[in-house]
Amino acid sequence: MPNPVPTPSPQASLRALQAMLRARHPLAALDVFHAETGDAFKINLPGFQPVFMVGPEAARFVLVEGRDELRWRNAADPVVDLLRHGVLVEDGESHDELRKLMNPSLHRRMLAGYVEAMWGATDEIISKWADGAVVDMLVEMRKITLLILTRTLFAVDFAPELERLFQPVIDNIRYISPGLWMLWRGVPRLGYRRSLAALDEYLYRIIAERRRALTGSDVEPADMLGVLICAGLDDDLIRDQLLTMLIAGHDTSTALLAWSFYLLGTHPEACQRVQAEARALEPGTIPDITKINNLEYTGWTIKEALRLYPPIHLGSRLAAADLHFQDYVIPAGTRVVYSIYLTQRHPDFWDAPGTFRPERHGTSERQVPYSWLAFGGGPRNCIGGAFGQVEAKLVLAQVFQRFDLELVEKHVRPHMGATLEPHPGVRMKVRERRS
Ligand code: HEM
Repeated sequence: MPNPVPTPSPQASLRALQAMLRARHPLAALDVFHAETGDAFKINLPGFQPVFMVGPEAARFVLVEGRDELRWRNAADPVVDLLRHGVLVEDGESHDELRKLMNPSLHRRMLAGYVEAMWGATDEIISKWADGAVVDMLVEMRKITLLILTRTLFAVDFAPELERLFQPVIDNIRYISPGLWMLWRGVPRLGYRRSLAALDEYLYRIIAERRRALTGSDVEPADMLGVLICAGLDDDLIRDQLLTMLIAGHDTSTALLAWSFYLLGTHPEACQRVQAEARALEPGTIPDITKINNLEYTGWTIKEALRLYPPIHLGSRLAAADLHFQDYVIPAGTRVVYSIYLTQRHPDFWDAPGTFRPERHGTSERQVPYSWLAFGGGPRNCIGGAFGQVEAKLVLAQVFQRFDLELVEKHVRPHMGATLEPHPGVRMKVRERRS
């Protein structure tokens, strides 16, 4: 006889509340629920009752075996309101067709051609750092990743718009972040419409400009914007994909890089190894993709930062039918969440799960499939996973090649925005290296 998914006991809920208040972030409460209730538990808040699924078996169920009965689109979520018909919030054929169109510009073979734009964008931002200044890596990385995303995938230069549109980007990210709307759907969301109008004006403008440039041309564009226009999509549908990429493609990389700097700032030995790899690259020359790929320890550092602080710390779905997982039944209409954060810190699958140890991603320790899930998994895994990893390696390498860094504020906690961010930021003193 199948059972309903258990809810944590009142005692566990009290301990979760205490843990959350001590750590000042809700992930601490999830840790308590997981330890006390097991790999499936249901949270019972007024208006918000998701089932949390944890561990490789649960992840495989959500991402592969049960995926046909799980919808990505939940009409009640602000992300659907924002992205409308973006690939991230579509299901079925409509999703698959969009993904097929967008895949080629994010394919591994395209990455070699993006290195120069990635290097140039990084150079542009870090060249403004004054020797000895304190910079917030959360802010600086956002500038870099916005420039990289737009130059590579839209073939436009976002630099002239960076200052004007930086705040509207942040406002829209806030709009889709967890908040009171989860408990009370009618909560007023002020200020966001104006910011969205500013982004929309920009996106529709670059679509129109590119349409004009492509009219009568027989050149087949390889960038995503050009591909979407040539495929015959209308302006609204293209806008939805561009906004999806703009948000999903830079906010995640920003969080990843900011956490990487934080972790390296608190782990001097690992930092020295990343520095050594960066400084072995030829100064003043843009490394090619092979050299970037060969930054082995830097790659492990990125994977370990993604394990401890996954920018997307959960995947949310809506059960379209009654689901049967292990001994449990999950009724249709339930919000089902697979927790990347808890799975990647699961004591059954990771030694010293809370310890930062990049070496674990070397060949010596075998990892159970679906225990590392930072890019999701199955047919709808992250479309930009390869892009994001090359970008992160390249940015770290360039920064460490040119600067010595010192963390000036060590008290940082994870904040659940649209991504899991280091809060209140990652403030570092930057000293230019003279070689
Ligand atoms: C580097 C850090 C990144 C991380 C950690 C990350 C993480 C993820 C995760 C976990 C998912 C699956 C979510 C789920 O199962 O609910 C996902 C999907 C997605 N990501 Fe990423 N991502 C990153 C970078 C990027 C980049 C650079 C882009 C675009 C340029 C991108 C675009 C997307 C899109 C469009 C989807 C939805 C794919 C689909 O539904 O078919 N991501 N990402």
